[in-house]
Amino acid sequence: MTGPYGLTVNGRRHEVVDGWVGESLLFVLRERLGLPGSKNACEEGECGSCTVRLDDRLVCSCLVLAAAAADRSVTTVEGLSAGHEAGGSLSDVQQAFVDAGAVQCGFCTPGLLMAVDDLLDHDPDPNDLTVREAISGNLCRCTGYGRILDAVDRAALARREART
Ligand code: FES
Ligand code: FES
Repeated sequence: MTGPYGLTVNGRRHEVVDGWVGESLLFVLRERLGLPGSKNACEEGECGSCTVRLDDRLVCSCLVLAAAAADRSVTTVEGLSAGHEAGGSLSDVQQAFVDAGAVQCGFCTPGLLMAVDDLLDHDPDPNDLTVREAISGNLCRCTGYGRILDAVDRAALARREART
């Protein structure tokens, strides 16, 4: 067991009590905080389905000790949309994935949404190579990536238009 520690997730502070020091951030998000959006597929940093933002960096939450994220800012896929606490509306990237038909089984989707959101935050008009590089750590077994690339184009356009 480790002592209680605080995690700030999607702007909300949580106290983690009775945790074990070796628990991953992914485990704590899903099993202790009731945030199942981040998916557990490989648990070894290979698939990207567990991607979250820790402060301003994307990480595989399966590889981060939850206690190491204490007093840092964690953003999960649940936090991408405005008004997410109250059900909210889809973010531009989420809507683009729906519109492009880029979601099949959906297991990879939360991680991809995080990766694309982060990409567009840093590069509002990414070229094809940049997009492919940005999502290279997110494995999808279903789509063949064509619709995902289409979704990224749609999201980038929507975000640029929203900013003008
Ligand atoms: S579950 Fe973390 S990278 Fe696959
Ligand atoms: S939609 Fe099934 S793994 Fe990507």
